[in-house]
Amino acid sequence: MRLLNRKLKSYLEKQMYSFHTPGHKGRTDLFSGFSFPGFDLTELPGLDMLHNPLGIIAEAQKRAAKVYGADETFFLVNGGTSGNQAILFSLMSNVSGKIRIERKAHRSVIGGLILSGLTPEYIFPQIHPDFNLPLGLDEKCSLTNMQDIGALHLTYPSYYGTTPDLEYIIKKRDESFPCLPVLVDQAHGSHFLGRMFPQGALTLGADAVIHSTHKTLAALTQAGMLHVQGERIDRSSLRKSLEILQTSSPSYLLLASLDSAMNDFGQMDPWQELFEEVQLLHQKLEGKLRVLTHKDAGTYGIKEVDWTKILVNISNIKVTTSQAVEILRTKYRIEPELWDKENILFMLGIGNKPEDIRHLGKALEGLAVEYSLGDSDNSQHRGLQRLEQLSPPIIQLTPREAWLGQKKQVKIHESLGLISGETISIYPPGIPLVALGEEITPVIIEYLQRAAEYNWQGWEGFDRGQIIVMDV
Ligand SMILES: Cc1ncc(COP(=O)(O)O)c(C=O)c1O
Repeated sequence: MRLLNRKLKSYLEKQMYSFHTPGHKGRTDLFSGFSFPGFDLTELPGLDMLHNPLGIIAEAQKRAAKVYGADETFFLVNGGTSGNQAILFSLMSNVSGKIRIERKAHRSVIGGLILSGLTPEYIFPQIHPDFNLPLGLDEKCSLTNMQDIGALHLTYPSYYGTTPDLEYIIKKRDESFPCLPVLVDQAHGSHFLGRMFPQGALTLGADAVIHSTHKTLAALTQAGMLHVQGERIDRSSLRKSLEILQTSSPSYLLLASLDSAMNDFGQMDPWQELFEEVQLLHQKLEGKLRVLTHKDAGTYGIKEVDWTKILVNISNIKVTTSQAVEILRTKYRIEPELWDKENILFMLGIGNKPEDIRHLGKALEGLAVEYSLGDSDNSQHRGLQRLEQLSPPIIQLTPREAWLGQKKQVKIHESLGLISGETISIYPPGIPLVALGEEITPVIIEYLQRAAEYNWQGWEGFDRGQIIVMDV
């Protein structure tokens, strides 16, 4: 009874338009020459070993390093997740004290903090009022009050394609804190090469950069890269961290897909065609729906906007985002990447075709016209006060201390003033409401008591109205 096979097959039969990861969008031509399952081989004579590469993997990694301008590139078979975890884990023996990170960092960064034992000091994002989302960063906060800060971790670009002013931050680092490693989660920007996109973090001088190659390029899901340059990262410690965190049986299918993604990447023509269609889509929707575009660069802490992310706010039409997504799915066969109470995100990859974008433009225009609100109010779509506007967390234990400590479950209303034993985020955008080791405040309780209004990540007692706390 091949349950998964049957389900996957029937999903494919719907022939949906993909505006989500992976970037190859199921196009077989992007994997020409691949043999499945033939290429699913192990470490055989004449092939190579991921953890000590001397042959074809070493060569392919060198080629990728050359493409991105890195000193050294490591292939990842457990996504950008393992890249974030490994780079933080590798700091353990070299960086004492605190690491400055963004509160909106991906949860794999919290995983990295558990592994490394570092104490986080958070930078809060800037909220864009039109989207009610953390799209920007005040670059000046990144490098102030630097006592005890051993490293800086930034997300560039955000899930929504917006970038902070990394050039400014690295310039300030070079001037004032030349030993400070800058680690960049560029999971959503593996395609940042060439003049059509924001500059890559390596080009801007970051010391370590994580790519989730599968998200936008023609690599298989889970395939990613970790690039390093310069002397601030201890390569030996990084290699050992990767060896601990990555499987001892890496998939050659994933590794070969990373290599072939580098082959196809040099061709800018497919991106150019997509770019032109996105500009037409922006024009078509102007005055009908609020779309994030290059015109938003320079506002609310946004330096640049990557046009391959199409973020649409639908709070000026009569349907909720869930209803809109259902209509897009059933009537137009469009599958977005994610949505919240006001916005829907459509993600492009190298596998999209110009007609996909034309189809999306028609569908969104159709929605805007059919469900136009006229002058009536639609403010019920707006959520609670956003998390990022909360006061900074009260950190009682490092994530690692909390991870290792005794825990118990209590009712939400009994948890005031206790220390959280889990990291709970509202998804999207996935920013922790409370992280492991932080004190539970009245505002956190207010959110938790309105559980049914949100999608949650990391909250085990969600359906029982309970929360895991430290048993101290
Ligand atoms: C900003 C960011 N970093 C890292 C990751 C993890 O990447 P992966 O899914 O490749 O493990 C994600 C995944 O969505 C992400 O959004």
